[in-house]
Amino acid sequence: MKTVSLTIDGKKVTAPEGEKVLWAALDNDIYIPHLCAHHDNSSPDASCRLCWVEVEGRLKPVTACTETVEAGMAVKTRGAASRRLARTALELLLASNEVDCANCAKSGNCQLQKIAAHLKVNLKSRRFRQIPRQLPVDASSPLFIYDPNKCVLCGQCIWVCRKQLGIGAIGFAHRGFNRKMTTFGDGPIGQSQCAECGDCVAACPTGALVFKEH
Ligand code: FES
Repeated sequence: MKTVSLTIDGKKVTAPEGEKVLWAALDNDIYIPHLCAHHDNSSPDASCRLCWVEVEGRLKPVTACTETVEAGMAVKTRGAASRRLARTALELLLASNEVDCANCAKSGNCQLQKIAAHLKVNLKSRRFRQIPRQLPVDASSPLFIYDPNKCVLCGQCIWVCRKQLGIGAIGFAHRGFNRKMTTFGDGPIGQSQCAECGDCVAACPTGALVFKEH
């Protein structure tokens, strides 16, 4: 396999040709916040807008999950412009996300907590007006609970269910603020074709999908 050499935050690294900057960084222990990217997805949606980085010679920051490594490339993950964009994306996400860490089963193992700490953003940030979604919690599965109010719309659960398992019990519905992960026809997950494997729960980066028994 051909590799290319580049620098990330001044560190010389190599990555397989065609690799995205995000994975090259993570493989070399350089953390870049991310929620929606999946390594096996060659055409990422880049919907969470958290993985901003700066590339020498480029006028504007780019998303690391869509940017392909190039020989000689110099990437900065902590530049002021990329930080500002990532912080704004996180604070917008938090404005419609239920943050209740004290009562959340994923607390301590939640990517939102990790990203907020990395970007130095308060999880209770009130920079933007709070617009809670107030959607009903789905406890119809015997295995897990789905709380859409804690969902960050990363699509990791959908990817696992559809692409890796070939089941496709869940998907996205609606657009804009009303967008949500749900079943076909928006029915209870327990009455869908869910196979109750629990892989979606394992893939969920927040407390949106949690097992009933911890
Ligand atoms: S991980 Fe790049 S936009 Fe979500």
